[in-house]
Parts: sequence; C-alpha cells; structure tokens
Amino acid sequence: MLSGKRILLIVTGGIAAYKTPDLVRRLRERGAQVRCVLTAGGAQFVTPLALGAVTGDKVYQDLFDLTDEQEMGHIQLSRDADVILVAPASADVLAKMAGGLATDLATTALLATDKPVMVAPAMNVRMWQHAATQANIETLKSRGVTVIGPEEGDMACGEFGPGRMSEPLDIAQALIDFFHGGQPLRGKHALVTSGPTHEPIDPVRYIANRSSGKQGHAIAAALAALGARVTLVTGPVTLKDPIGVATVHVETARDMLAACTEALPADIAVCAAAVADWRTADAAPEKMKKDGKGLPALALAENPDILATLAAPGKNRPALVVGFAAETENVVGHAVAKLKKKGCDWICANDVSPETGTFGGDMNRVHLVTGSGVEDWPPQTKTQVGERLAQRIADHVTAGADATGADAE
Ligand code: C5P
Repeated sequence: MLSGKRILLIVTGGIAAYKTPDLVRRLRERGAQVRCVLTAGGAQFVTPLALGAVTGDKVYQDLFDLTDEQEMGHIQLSRDADVILVAPASADVLAKMAGGLATDLATTALLATDKPVMVAPAMNVRMWQHAATQANIETLKSRGVTVIGPEEGDMACGEFGPGRMSEPLDIAQALIDFFHGGQPLRGKHALVTSGPTHEPIDPVRYIANRSSGKQGHAIAAALAALGARVTLVTGPVTLKDPIGVATVHVETARDMLAACTEALPADIAVCAAAVADWRTADAAPEKMKKDGKGLPALALAENPDILATLAAPGKNRPALVVGFAAETENVVGHAVAKLKKKGCDWICANDVSPETGTFGGDMNRVHLVTGSGVEDWPPQTKTQVGERLAQRIADHVTAGADATGADAE
C-alpha cells in the first residue's frame, strides 16, 4: 500500500517519540522506505540506535556533521523523499515551521523541502489548545501541510484531552489515504452555515431557537477531513470552532447572509443553520422598560433566506447546494417541496419533533432527498451524519455530476 514510497520521518521531542519505532515498523510493513531525522529533543525519548535498527538506515541528527553533509546534504535529505512526516510534532517544531525557522537539521530540512509535509502533533492538552499553537496549525494547513490527529485521551502528563499523538496504525492509514486519494475534496471550497441566529429585540433580549450547531459543525469538520477548504459561518453556539476550519461568527440572519456572500465563490454550500425566519422590524436602541402603559407590540419583519439566495442561479452559485429541513411531521413530503421552493440540489430532512431529541442532542436521523430520490439513513450520531454527508458530497463531486445537482449514479 505504501510500496516504493520514501518517507522522511522527523522525530521531535515528546514522550510519544517512544511510539516511533513501532510507527517505522508499520510503515515498512506496508512497503515504505523510511529514513529518520532525530532532533535533540527526540533523542531524549528514543535512541538513534533503536530507530537505526528498525529503519535499517543511518539516523540523521546533526546539521553541522561534516561526514553527513558530504554523504547526504540536508537539502538532498528532504528532496530524497516522497513525503516528510513529522511524528511526534511538538508545539515547538510546529511554531518553527509556521515561522520559517531553520535552527537544526529537522527544521532546515522542512524549510528546504518541496515535498508534501504531514505532521502528527503530540503535546499537553493546554499546549495544543493554546491560541499560538492553533494559529500555527492554521498557518501550516493553509500552506497545504496535512495534520494527522491529535487524538483525545489520557496523557502522559496525567491530564485528559486532545493532544495525544495518533496511533502508528492510524498514521500509516493517513499516509495511505494521502497517496491513494483519501482527500477527494482537496482543492474544493465548501461553505457551511450552522447554529441558530439571534435577532435582537433590544440590547439585552433576542429571538432565538434551540439549534445547538452540532450538526453543522460536524459537517464542516467532516468536509475538512476530506481535504476541502471549509468556511463555517456560525450563529451563537457554545461549541469550539472545528480545527482546520475557517470559522466566521455572526449573530443575525442578515450578518450570516453577508458573511456567506463574502465567502463566495464556493464549490459546495451546506446550509445547516436554523436561521430565524423573522426579526423584529425595529430593534429598540435601549433596553425596553415595563412602564405600566401596557404590553409592547413586537412587529416582525421577514429575514433573507440564505439557502434560497445561495441556490439562486448566478455566476457565483456553488455547484452543489444542500439545505436542511427540520420538520416535526410528514418529514420527507415537506423536504421534497422545500427542495423545489428553495432551488437547492439536495435536502437533508430531519425529524426534530421533541421526542426525537434531535435539537441539542447528539443523534440525528436523516432522509437525504437528491435529484434521484430519497435515501433513508439510520439514526446516527451527528458526527456520523456529518461524515456520511461529506463522503456523499465527495462521491458526487468526484463523479463529475453537473451543476444542476442531478446525480451521476
Ligand atoms: O424554510 P426552512 O427554514 O424550513 O428551511 C430550512 C433550510 O433553509 C435550512 O437549510 C436553513 O439553513 C435554510 N434557511 C436559510 N435562511 C433562512 C431560513 C432557512 O438559509 N432565512
């Protein structure tokens, strides 16, 4: 599966380095040739002897080693590979990569390379969640670096959370996916809306709904995992921004429409937001008071329909526009009608009657209405629905279906 692929494995300083001899074994089992660069930090956790034994090759450690430079210069080292894999990738090496520093053999090779780079971060949860690390990851992703993991779990430091290096088998699979097109949406831009909107009544009160944003955020993350560049436009939610997704925060439907229009052009649009249909005609500039003169009247005005606007014919219309239909009865019937009314290509219909627990919950049951019929999906977690929809979109896009949304299959 990795037959003939030359992998330059850069091992940096972190306890997860103890997994790298196993990682080398897994990569070699799959046919790869592996050569290692070991940083000074990495050498605190795994010995050059161990890596040399499993690679069957010299382990490179020193930028200024004259013998090494004559045999194999640092430029050559990075060019003589099909991919560079940094595992574990410490917060430090990610920061140096993002900043373009070349302070040792590993960072010099990374700066000198013209080959694809993949990183498997491993660090303490707080280091991973630090704004600096997240910004560095965003920068690296925007330059085309593939990020594998990290996973969530117990950490060597006794804490719990995201930051564990992905397991060797998963890293090997990510390399296989990379070489065999595991990122079918690479080069595509997907726009996703998520969450509710808040429509102000006055500076402290607003009209809202029960949407949690879980489904829209899961779709955005799943599209990004398939290689798409994703812009997520979200109303107020308590969720974290999905990693690797450019997230724009808005409050009102009108702001959401403006952010979506700004994000165009896009190849794919998925409107999962529960946009308020109405806003107050005139939000009061000051907090409204109980003044004993009777109840205030709440005059409403209609909000723009973001889905219908994105789906309207025009040069910026995404090739595939997917809407959601949250219904409490006759779910599929209403969804089919909505598909026509909104002008979109697909509708994900979901039953949000209170007994299903869909709103705010983790499960969802979807009926996907496309140009060629209705697919009834089983009840799944919102993450699974996101992954399935993203894969369905990728299949559709790579099958070269036309812009009318008629399915190729
Ligand atoms: O009309 P209804 O709200 O049932 O349609 C649901 C679909 O339309 C969802 O995809 C939702 O994101 C989208 N929508 C929108 N803008 C609105 C209302 C709904 O994008 N103002």
